[in-house]
Amino acid sequence: MNTALLDIQNYAKTFHLHERDKFIPSASHVNLSVYPGKLTALIGPTGAGKSSVLKGVYRTYLPSAGHILFRTAAGEIVDLAQADEHRILELRKTEIGFVTQFLHCLPRKSALDVVAEPLFARGVPTEEARGRAADLLAQLAVPAHLWNVPPATFSGGEKQRVNLARGLIAQPRLLLLDEPTASLDPATTERVVAHIETLKDTGIAMLAIFHHPDLVKRLADDVIELSPPVAIVEPEEEIA
Ligand SMILES: Nc1ncnc2c1ncn2[C@@H]1O[C@H](COP(=O)(O)OP(=O)(O)O)[C@@H](O)[C@H]1O
Ligand SMILES: [Mg+2]
Repeated sequence: MNTALLDIQNYAKTFHLHERDKFIPSASHVNLSVYPGKLTALIGPTGAGKSSVLKGVYRTYLPSAGHILFRTAAGEIVDLAQADEHRILELRKTEIGFVTQFLHCLPRKSALDVVAEPLFARGVPTEEARGRAADLLAQLAVPAHLWNVPPATFSGGEKQRVNLARGLIAQPRLLLLDEPTASLDPATTERVVAHIETLKDTGIAMLAIFHHPDLVKRLADDVIELSPPVAIVEPEEEIA
């Protein structure tokens, strides 16, 4: 039996709206495991807390409860719900990648450098990093004439492919994917699906959210369904 790379136990995230002194739950009682070479899919309606789980693992959000046990390359178990910032930044650089729903990047950086950035951060020499970025952009069918242009003016689908390439380039051991194909045309979606399949073969563990149930069927080894947490609202504050 394969040992889990990631083991989430009773994860919950609640937001405190200070100005109204209200607590808004975004995910609760989440339990799941992710294995090397396998993909675990999170499903559930909008607002069920799917993105909140990924953001808790990547520590964009500090979890409110539970354990997020990650097994490092060195074989150590780190609780991502409690690890210090320094440790989290180090793991993001080397072991955990996140493809968010939207591309966030500096406006003047070329697509090639946006994609190569995670390799620069690891100390890979500039030309080698750009070479690997070019290979990946070619695989994802981003036209070569765009590689030296900042992605700010790209179409939604082009931006998303740059975003994916950036998340994939450093070959993290754990990859978090938040609707990576949401703005792609069918042909590009197929390329991305094929790429995710090859990633599985290389042993990467993935925790992913897909817009289309078909993709869940094709790619997921495990499916975890989340239901929206019940909000605690005072009766007089209820909005009909
Ligand atoms: N930063 C935040 N502040 C307050 N509420 C949030 C925040 N992020 C998410 N939420 C709330 O948490 C719930 C779950 O959101 P999300 O994880 O984005 O769901 P999903 O990805 O399943 O659509 C939603 O009700 C959302 O409004
Ligand atoms: Mg979401």
